[in-house]
Amino acid sequence: MNSRMKVLIVGGGGREHAIAWKVKKSPRVEKVYCAPGNAGISKEAECVPIGAMEIDKLVAFAKEKEIDLTIIGMDDPLVAGIVDAFEAEGLRVFGPRKNAAILEGSKSFSKDLMKKYNIPTAAYEVFTDSDKAIEYLETKAEFPIVLKADGLALGKGVLICQDLEEAKEGVKTIMTDKKFGTAGNTMVIESFMTGREVSVLSFVDGDHIRIMTSAQDHKRAKDGDEGLNTGGMGTFSPSPFYTKEVDEFCKKYIYQATVDAMKAEGRPFKGIIFFGLMLTPNGPKVLEYNARFGDPEAQVVIPRMKNDIIDVMEACIDGTLDHVELEFEDNAAVCVVLASDGYPLAYEKGKVISGLERFDDMDKYYVFHAGTKFNEEGKPVTNGGRVLGVVAKGTSLKQARLNAYSAATWIEFDNKYMRHDIGKAIEDVEE
Ligand code: GLY
Repeated sequence: MNSRMKVLIVGGGGREHAIAWKVKKSPRVEKVYCAPGNAGISKEAECVPIGAMEIDKLVAFAKEKEIDLTIIGMDDPLVAGIVDAFEAEGLRVFGPRKNAAILEGSKSFSKDLMKKYNIPTAAYEVFTDSDKAIEYLETKAEFPIVLKADGLALGKGVLICQDLEEAKEGVKTIMTDKKFGTAGNTMVIESFMTGREVSVLSFVDGDHIRIMTSAQDHKRAKDGDEGLNTGGMGTFSPSPFYTKEVDEFCKKYIYQATVDAMKAEGRPFKGIIFFGLMLTPNGPKVLEYNARFGDPEAQVVIPRMKNDIIDVMEACIDGTLDHVELEFEDNAAVCVVLASDGYPLAYEKGKVISGLERFDDMDKYYVFHAGTKFNEEGKPVTNGGRVLGVVAKGTSLKQARLNAYSAATWIEFDNKYMRHDIGKAIEDVEE
């Protein structure tokens, strides 16, 4: 077993910071690189100025530095085939190949897969012609209804339409105006599901699957789930709504069934499958699959994981995940995202961030950087819409929530914005 490993992480957001933090804790790892990384990641890893989509340059870097393991954090390079490019050069890499990353890369593929293998999901139709989509909406649809651009769209290609007029406008946005580019060449129209959303991440080795602890994201920009969709404004883990019964149902009908379906299609999946679940009145259904850790789900799940993440990732690559038992701490974590006011629309960058040192050497409190960089004077400044994820653990979700909101006051920058109700839903359940 290699215990002086050099690891490269591809990506530069809060998710990759959480991964880098965990990788650095592995006694097997000697050196961590991150491309491109950010100001916070530079505490855990040497940041390399190569973009996540500069696949040839990343391969060359991994060869030059004799990287033992590369971990792909982001969806775009996975869907573009970065794992195939690394493997072609004999490099060890964690993530699904292109033909498996399609699970996230094409909504019509994933919906057809679920239909074929009887995996519970909402009813849907696929369209490549906008006139046919409108005809369907005029004659067969019930409202509200969901329109999804087929391809990757930075998490923004899903429109919930309340009536026919909105839905027609949505078809124009996705298919005619191509607001999400070629992602909108094909569109899925899906029945609207009601219920609570839960994110369940898993490690997969092609045959076997190991489920991580559950989490819940808050996607809208404003309190009360108002405002525009964002990349995620905060998370908590575990979700008290992910009960033993839900877990048993998903184990029986969703998790292994998905892994087996991918294998049967000649697309064995190795890496992370992120199950976006809707707990509907008729039972859990798959809302979407992702082929990587969630962001900001990773920020609350990874700090609670007891295993050495390198061991688990290597087991996925080697097909030995059946020998691994995942273990998570018996506690809770909450992540509050500190964003630039105006996100996800226009916002100012370059604001000096203070208070980060409060997290140094603090047990159970973490600050994972998303959009940050160092300015010319070497000071950390804001460099994106989502700036930081402040994470705290607690013995209960309520305690973790109090701790996270307390820690969120330690940080200051001029246009700091956050939601104040991350994890508020847990007040609805008795702990
Ligand atoms: N938090 C949702 C996602 O990572 O897609």
